[in-house]
Amino acid sequence: MNSKVKTSDYGQGEASFSAAGGFEGIKQLVDAFYDAMETLPQAKHIRDMHNPDLTESRDKLTRFLTGWLGGPKLFSEKYGPIRIPVAHRHLDIGPAERDAWLACMQIAVNAQPYQQDFRDYLMTQLYVPAERSRNKD
Ligand code: HEM
Repeated sequence: MNSKVKTSDYGQGEASFSAAGGFEGIKQLVDAFYDAMETLPQAKHIRDMHNPDLTESRDKLTRFLTGWLGGPKLFSEKYGPIRIPVAHRHLDIGPAERDAWLACMQIAVNAQPYQQDFRDYLMTQLYVPAERSRNKD
């Protein structure tokens, strides 16, 4: 982790990918995210939308976030192109589902050895695709 990175630089190049600990760091984040989804009562509903076996979900989200944070485009390499709203179109996602997803992510982000300004940056940025996944009021 580069302590010299300023909050305003996180969107530049690989700064966020690097602040997240690269691929291994993002893998840990996603593992913590799905672990939170398995245990958080308000996330039961969104957990049940997923396959019982989360192996592929973990792989997909890890690869997606790697590219989204400025690292290599590992999702499209393995699974092809993706658009977040389209990928969630078949699911019923309202504000409660969006907020449950973000609550799991907040727990996961807090558990990582990140600088606090990167945690804040990440949660602010993740709100955007979470809101774009919402398809009902
Ligand atoms: C807003 C609340 C969200 C809910 C309830 C949700 C739920 C789900 C579920 C249930 C799947 C599996 C779909 C299936 O197997 O048919 C999925 C797939 C996926 N989600 Fe989400 N998701 C949310 C937000 C997000 C966000 C914010 C991101 C990215 C930052 C994301 C990234 C992905 C990716 C990459 C996949 C794999 C898509 C594919 O199979 O091609 N999701 N999501």
